[in-house]
Amino acid sequence: MAARLCLDKPSQAYDTAQAGGDLMSARADYSATDTHRGHTGVSCLPGDLVARVVLDGLLKLRPAFLEDPTLRSVAGQVLVVSSEQALAENSANLPLGSVRIIALSEACYKDPRLDAIVFAYLPPSTPIPLVGRMIESALRDIRRENLHYQSAEQLRIASAEIDELNRIGVALSAEHEIPKLLEMILSRARQMTAADAGSIYFVEPEQDGSWSSSAKSQPATGSIQEREIGWRKPNVTSRATALRFLWAQNDTVSFPFEQTQVEISNASIAGHVALTGESVQLEDAYDVPPGLPYKINHDFDAKLGYRTKSILAVPMCNDKGEVVGVLQLINSKRNPGAKLTSHAAAAAEVVPFTLHHRKLLLSLASQAAVALQNSRLLASIENLFEGFVRASVVAIEQRDPATCGHSARVARLTLALAEAVNRTTTGPLAHIHFTPTHKKELRYAALLHDFGKVGVRENILLKKEKLYPAQLELLRHRFLFAKRSSETELLRAKLELLLAHGEHAHNQAAQEAEVRFQKYCTELDALWDYVLQCNLPSSTPETARPRLAEAATRTYVDPNGISRPLITDEEIRLLSIPQGSLDPLERAQMEDHVMYTVRFLSQIPWTPEIRGVIPIAGAHHEKLDGSGYPHRLSADNISWQTRMLTIVDIFDGITASDRPYKKAFTPEEALGILRAQVAAGAIDPDLFELFSDLVRQGVHKAESQQPDSVLADEQAAS
Ligand SMILES: [Fe+2]
Ligand SMILES: [Fe+2]
Repeated sequence: MAARLCLDKPSQAYDTAQAGGDLMSARADYSATDTHRGHTGVSCLPGDLVARVVLDGLLKLRPAFLEDPTLRSVAGQVLVVSSEQALAENSANLPLGSVRIIALSEACYKDPRLDAIVFAYLPPSTPIPLVGRMIESALRDIRRENLHYQSAEQLRIASAEIDELNRIGVALSAEHEIPKLLEMILSRARQMTAADAGSIYFVEPEQDGSWSSSAKSQPATGSIQEREIGWRKPNVTSRATALRFLWAQNDTVSFPFEQTQVEISNASIAGHVALTGESVQLEDAYDVPPGLPYKINHDFDAKLGYRTKSILAVPMCNDKGEVVGVLQLINSKRNPGAKLTSHAAAAAEVVPFTLHHRKLLLSLASQAAVALQNSRLLASIENLFEGFVRASVVAIEQRDPATCGHSARVARLTLALAEAVNRTTTGPLAHIHFTPTHKKELRYAALLHDFGKVGVRENILLKKEKLYPAQLELLRHRFLFAKRSSETELLRAKLELLLAHGEHAHNQAAQEAEVRFQKYCTELDALWDYVLQCNLPSSTPETARPRLAEAATRTYVDPNGISRPLITDEEIRLLSIPQGSLDPLERAQMEDHVMYTVRFLSQIPWTPEIRGVIPIAGAHHEKLDGSGYPHRLSADNISWQTRMLTIVDIFDGITASDRPYKKAFTPEEALGILRAQVAAGAIDPDLFELFSDLVRQGVHKAESQQPDSVLADEQAAS
C-alpha cells in the first residue's frame, strides 16, 4: 500500500506515520541549509515534522532514490515544507537561487513573496511516490540550471580565450622584430598555461631556403588525444635535419642562454615533435611510461638544480600544415606566481598540463609559426634589399674609385648625429626624436645619396684637374715643340755663321743666340710650371689672372711656319676656373647627379614609412640660405634629416684621406670650413655644434681608413 500523508496537522501526520509503520522514524536533523546526510540535497525545515515524515517515508519506500547518480550530481537542494509560516520564518536564510521548494499545501501561499519562491504545490494527500516524482523533477530542474550555468561559464571562458588568442594573433602580426616576437610568444604561452618555463625551437633553413621539416598535409592521424582535439597531424618528410634552439624563459632559474642546434630525431622531445609532428605531454619527466620513442634529457635539471615535472611540447605548423618549429612548456603551476626553488616546491606546485592547455597551445603555436615565418621572410626581404643597396653603393664606387667608402662613412656619421640629436634635451633640437624607422630611412638616404653619379659622364666624374689629361699632354708637347723649334733656330743660326765666317768667326754672335735660347727655355719652363700650378683644382687667385693673360699672348711657330698661340683660348679658359676642376657646364652636369639620384630612387617601391628616402637624399646639396642645388630650397623646405646629411657629406668630402691631387683637410680644418658656412647661413648651426662635439669625441675615427673620395660635386658645391 502506498504511503499517504495526512497533513492537516503535523502531529497527526507523524502519528499516522508511526502507526502505519510505512514511514521511517524521523531520526535525521534537517535544516534549511544542510543536505541530507550523505545524500543529495533534499531537506525539510527544523521542526517541520510533516515534511520529515514524508522524506523518511520516501527513503523507506525507495531507499536508493537519493543515491541516484544523476540526482547526486546536482549542486542545490530541494526543500519540502508543509507550513507557510515555517517557510516565512526561514526564508531569509535560504539560498533561493539553488533551492527548489515543494510546498505541501492545498492552496497557494497567501504571501506573494513566498508564493513566488515555491517550485511546486502538492496537496498534502499526495501519495509519497508522487512526491518522490516531484522531488526528482525539482532536482532535475536544479541540475539543468547548473548545466546552464556551467555552459555559460564555459562559454565565457572560451570566449575570453578566443579573445585572448585573437589579441595575441594581432600582437604577433604587428611585431616583426624576431627577438620581441619570440619573447611575446613564450610569455603568452606560459601565461595561458601557468607554465614556469618554456622554449622555442625553429627548423633550421635548408639550402633551398625552406624552413619546414615537412611537406604537405596528409589525412588526420596522430594520437587519440590529438584526434580528440581536432588536431590535424602534419605530414613530416624531414627534409631539414636540425632545429635551432631560439629562445627560452624560466621563472625560477636564470641561466646564460645561447642558441644551439638540436637534431631532428628521437634524441630529444623537441626533436621528436619536429620529426613526427605529434605533441608530447608528460605528467612527470622522471616517471614516464615505458617504451617512449624519445629520450628525455635531464642535463638542464642536473646543472641548475631545477626540477622538470610536467611537460607539454607541440609542433608549430605554418599555414601549409608544415612543421616549422616546436613550442615546449615546462611545469604548469597551481599558482602562476610560485617559484619552484626546490624539489618540494615543484612537487607541491606543479600540476599536469591539461588537454585544454594543449588545444590552446596548438592554436597559439600555429599563429606563432606564421608570425615567425612572416618575420623571417620580412627579414630575408630586408636582407635582400640591403644587398641591393650595397650593390648600388659598390656600383658607384667602382665607377669612381676615389669615392670608395664615402657612402658608408656618410651613413654611419649621419646616424651617429641622429643618435646625438635623440640624446639632446635642451635647445632647438630637444623636441626632435628619430625613431628606428626614421633612422632606417635616413641610413638608406645616406647610403644612396650619390648614386646618381652613375649618370654623370665618366670624364667629368673622374676629372681631377682643370685640363683633361689629353689636353694637358697636348699642351706639354706644344711647349716641347716650341722649345725644340727654338733650339733648331739657334742651331741654324750657328750653322749660318759658321758657313759664312769660319770656325772661330762671330763667336760673340753665336753666344748671344745661345743666351737668348737659354732665356727662352727658362721662360717656357717657368710658364709650364705655372700652367701645372693653375691646372690644380685648388683655387686660382685673382692675382694670377694677369699672368695667365700674358701667357695667352705667347706664340710659337708651327711646322708650317705659321705663328700660333702657345696656349689656346680654350686652355686659358679652363686654367682660369676660379675653384675646383670643373667649368660651369661640367659643374652643371655634375650637379645633375642629384636629379639622377632622385630618378633612380623613385624607381624603388619604398614602403610608406620610409618613403622619405627620396626627398632626404634628393636635397643633400641644398643650403639653408637658398644657395644650394638643384632646387635652391629655403630652410623651411629642408628637413632635419637632410640638414644632417648635408653637414656629414661636406665633412667627409673635405676630410677624405686619399686625395690624389690635394692634401685632405684635417677634421679641425673641415670644422672651420663648415663653421664659415654656418656663419653664411648655409647650414644648420645647432646640428653643426652637435656634430662638432661628435668630431671632437673622435666619432669620425671609428671607420676604417679606406682610400677616400674626392667629391668632385663637393668641389662644385663649396
Ligand atoms: Fe652629392
Ligand atoms: Fe656625397
